[in-house]
Amino acid sequence: MKIKVLMVCLGNICRSPTAQGVFQAELLKQNLSHLVGVDSAGTAAWHVGKAPDARSQAHAKRRGYDLSALSARQVQTQDFHEFDYILAMDQHNFDELQAIQPSGSRATLDLFLRFAPDAEKREVPDPYYGGDAGFEEVLDLVERASLGLINHLRSTDLRSAAL
Ligand code: 4NP
Repeated sequence: MKIKVLMVCLGNICRSPTAQGVFQAELLKQNLSHLVGVDSAGTAAWHVGKAPDARSQAHAKRRGYDLSALSARQVQTQDFHEFDYILAMDQHNFDELQAIQPSGSRATLDLFLRFAPDAEKREVPDPYYGGDAGFEEVLDLVERASLGLINHLRSTDLRSAAL
């Protein structure tokens, strides 16, 4: 059965769709996409149904990631039963997730940047009200954490998988 990862931010239009697109691209590159799946969601419902923010899409595209097919949705209780990892972009969203985590939840809840221990930050900063540098920083951080998460999965969940 596939390992399922859910990336979570506030609006699901900047950070978590970027994390989904970057992590998905790395899974494809490492021939792991048949073993690991990724989705994203927001703790807030403001942007449900919208494509990722045009700035996120433009910055991602310059690095070869196509986010255009993604559509925002809100986290739901069922996600805690379906996903193995629910990874928050920042502490606020981690706290929101922890508050709604049902008992018997299957998911391991964590900060995404725990998988980028050498990064200078613990949280992916919200780029929404800032400029270009913020969107580039999101990409830098999620690229590092995506590699770290794959290494973690290779040494744990995927250890016995034929790769
Ligand atoms: P995200 O960024 O959580 O990375 O998708 C935001 C998107 C929208 C808003 C805030 C953050 N907003 O206030 O509408």
